[in-house]
Amino acid sequence: MSGRNPKSGASAPLSTVLGALRAAGEPTRLRLLALLAHAELNVTDLQEILGQSQPRISRHLKLMSGAGLIERHREGSWAFFRLAQDGHGAHLARGIIDKLSPEEPVLARDRERLAEVRASNADKAADYFRDHAKDWAKIRALHVEEEAVEAAIRELVGSRPVRALLDIGTGTGRILEVLAPQADRAVGVDLSVDMLSVARANIAKLGLTNVQFRQGDTYSLPVPQNSFDLVVIHQVLHFLDDPQRAIREAARALAPGGRLLVVDFAPHELEFLREAHAHRRLGFTIDAVTQWMKLAGLKPEVHDELKPPGNIRDKLTVSLWLARDPRVVTDLPASDPNRSVA
Ligand SMILES: C[S@@+](CC[C@H](N)C(=O)[O-])C[C@H]1O[C@@H](n2cnc3c(N)ncnc32)[C@H](O)[C@@H]1O
Repeated sequence: MSGRNPKSGASAPLSTVLGALRAAGEPTRLRLLALLAHAELNVTDLQEILGQSQPRISRHLKLMSGAGLIERHREGSWAFFRLAQDGHGAHLARGIIDKLSPEEPVLARDRERLAEVRASNADKAADYFRDHAKDWAKIRALHVEEEAVEAAIRELVGSRPVRALLDIGTGTGRILEVLAPQADRAVGVDLSVDMLSVARANIAKLGLTNVQFRQGDTYSLPVPQNSFDLVVIHQVLHFLDDPQRAIREAARALAPGGRLLVVDFAPHELEFLREAHAHRRLGFTIDAVTQWMKLAGLKPEVHDELKPPGNIRDKLTVSLWLARDPRVVTDLPASDPNRSVA
């Protein structure tokens, strides 16, 4: 997978290599490593795939994460595991997996079970989405076609590769579906564990292995500062009681020279969106978001508007704002631990 840092993994101290080999040197642990190369999985998924008890699997995972081969992150009451992304552990894990023959019957069986577990997770997620789909469809009908918004996003972002992408309030993960294919690595953050399972299933269906998810609040993002070169906040600000603070926090996550894209509604009078759909804000003026971007230390670059056809009064206009972090890479102190994380 791309996005790893080969420099830090090229050669490692003897004790690190020994620790990694010891941690991986057991049949179940090798199978777990091979599975985590395909997907971010929780202990329940792994239990279903391997047919082993939860304490045994947890013990194996703990050993491998202690040796830096895999990473663990918490999402509500669940913990998810994936291959380490950076450093010696990431390099060693990838090296070990590359040596395994994919035709090995036990590994092929594990992959089949993984596909079954993913299909069942996708069914559960689809049930959840079906229950909420009516609301989403109603709101979509109020503004310009989704395809037009996505085309405008693609145009603003451009086709150049993105090293690290952050999607704040990822919802069903649609923005990740659109933009993650051009990113080395991507992270989707959402407050809702239910939305994250929908997003996870959608991304798994597409086979995008460079995407991670984090449960977290837009006001206190669970990501390091100075670490993303593209941050997107798509149709989230109008739910928030303090959108300015969300923009400030998003700017904190940007790497020098990185870009923040905000997409939301222009001011409107559809009061029912407050009562029926939990909107707090009835859209935003061009100036309001532009000013918040400036106050967050960013340089606004582009504003675009997509007006719906027909009667403007009962339809929503979608606004897009793009701003850049004006710092250049050398603005970070040499000792900044976040300097090379993106
Ligand atoms: C309308 S959905 C938009 C999802 C996605 N960005 C899209 O456009 O497809 C809004 C999302 O914001 C999330 N959200 C709301 N408040 C949040 C907060 N304080 N922190 C993180 N996510 C939040 C909700 O859970 C929901 O998934």
